[in-house]
Amino acid sequence: MCGIVGVVGSKNATDILIQGLQKLEYRGYDSAGIFVSDERKNQSIIKAVGRISSLQEKIGIEVNGSIGIGHTRWATHGKPTENNAHPHASESNRILLVHNGVVENYKEIKTEYLNGHHFIGETDTEVCAHLIGKFIEVDHLTPKDAFVKALGIIEGSYAFAMVDREDPTVIYVAKNKSPLLVGLGEGYNMVGSDAMAMIRETKQFLEIHDKEVVIVKKDSVEILDEAGIQQERDAFTAELDLSDIGKGTYPYYMLKEIDEQPAVMRRIMQNYFKDGKYLVADEIKKAVIEADRIYIVAAGTSYHAGYASKTFFEELTDTPVELCIASEFGYNLPLLSKKPLFIYISQSGETADSRQVLVKTKELGYPALTVTNVPGSTLSREADFTMALHAGPEIAVASTKAYTAQIAVMSILAKAVGEEIGNEKAKSFNLIQELSLVATSMVATLAEKEWIESKVAEYLKDTRNAFYIGRGQDYFVSMEAALKLKEISYIQCEGFAAGELKHGTIALIEEGTPVLAIISNKSIASHTRGNIMEVSSRGANVLKVVSADCQEEGDDILVGNVHSYLTSLAMVIPTQLIAYYATLQRGLDVDKPRNLAKSVTVE
Ligand code: F6R
Repeated sequence: MCGIVGVVGSKNATDILIQGLQKLEYRGYDSAGIFVSDERKNQSIIKAVGRISSLQEKIGIEVNGSIGIGHTRWATHGKPTENNAHPHASESNRILLVHNGVVENYKEIKTEYLNGHHFIGETDTEVCAHLIGKFIEVDHLTPKDAFVKALGIIEGSYAFAMVDREDPTVIYVAKNKSPLLVGLGEGYNMVGSDAMAMIRETKQFLEIHDKEVVIVKKDSVEILDEAGIQQERDAFTAELDLSDIGKGTYPYYMLKEIDEQPAVMRRIMQNYFKDGKYLVADEIKKAVIEADRIYIVAAGTSYHAGYASKTFFEELTDTPVELCIASEFGYNLPLLSKKPLFIYISQSGETADSRQVLVKTKELGYPALTVTNVPGSTLSREADFTMALHAGPEIAVASTKAYTAQIAVMSILAKAVGEEIGNEKAKSFNLIQELSLVATSMVATLAEKEWIESKVAEYLKDTRNAFYIGRGQDYFVSMEAALKLKEISYIQCEGFAAGELKHGTIALIEEGTPVLAIISNKSIASHTRGNIMEVSSRGANVLKVVSADCQEEGDDILVGNVHSYLTSLAMVIPTQLIAYYATLQRGLDVDKPRNLAKSVTVE
């Protein structure tokens, strides 16, 4: 949450910052701001409430320079106002600071160090800017020493980029638990919350570790560890293409990402299957085989992907799987088995809720595997093993292709382990053939967009609430389908186990309430159809999403058959399109729903 970008040594700092912030807008879009300076100290700070486009409107051509820092905000402390927008200044205005994260002890810092200081906003970041400024002006420390001293006091998560107006040739940066990278250029260098923010300028990056301080100048980058000792680090090349992060001809990223799913399935097969063998590292298989129980820890859509993977994982690996909501794990710790393996499923690899569990389970000495779309992310670096999703950057806030990629990668892992231990079901399960069938089914559903759009207009127009129902795997898809619908269209929607509705929630069904039923399993289809009758006879308007082998007259949306282990991958596609069109028909911004951000880096 919140995005940071900075550049030093360029002729077009403003343009680079704006381009970078646009790529980071998925991290928050409550307000944005930049500071730029040239070497003669012509300096500007521009801030705006709302999107980067609002900021752009306020920037005149005279606002340019050789150094700059920028920020796009997801509000934590204080409302989305201009006063709370970053960059924040120290009391004398000398130090400018942008920040992503949450400073936990900012109130204590205020009382202990900053008595009599005047603050213009309510943010924790402004307090940090004042603290650094105070160490320079009152204690006469150099900006670097003041920055380091402040970091020794600040507790919590942060990615900071700081510029001293008196010396506009250096960006001081540091991180703890929040992501930040250095981008390396010829005659200029950059910093940013992710590689996408810098990829137009460079493909070469340097990692920053927690608690390090990095001094970035146009032709040098100095990394110091917590003890002030200089660190050597090799650069890495990001495998990112500018076209991967563009919308192309699509009106929204979400639609592009929904459409990419058959290709993502094929890419996963290419990356994990070669010459008749599943390419899963031996040590990962060993970790699963040695475990007596798998704990999947995740949040939101990734948590739902964990549920969708539970059945096949248990059946193919003979190992029980337990699902844990990351944000609850710390308080509702399940009774752990003797040899647990923790699997962290996370698109971004940065989710703070999951990370705090990872830190805890590492302290307890348990092995961890991260399944993520961003190898090199915090969860990936800190776990013992990583499996990549190969889904390509997911930019729409609502996750789609990452969900299906997560299930597909979990199926590869389960199949590889199952084969290794000689599990009969695994041996006879031709996963590659079944994933190809999934891709074919997805293509067929995606070809029915107009039909699905018309069904959305028929069933969800003007409604304030809705239900998804299903049994077994279809229940797991219902949870994800409901999340997708509510998070972007703001229709209040719950995903229910179809049989559970009658135990209370059916009281909410009235004339015209939309109920969206998912049916993909022949053996339990009649039970779900029974539940459909129950809600229909109470006035519900039921839209049926049904797999071809369960089809009956009057069903609304048909989905091509796939293996019973993988039905979530196929059945979720129409529900993603339903959420997309419901949002479009309400005239809302599909990619950037209110109150949300893509990468949730606060607990
Ligand atoms: C919903 C969505 C979120 C994320 C959740 C976890 O569309 O994207 O529910 O799934 O915030 O994020 P990751 O997967 O990055 O850990």
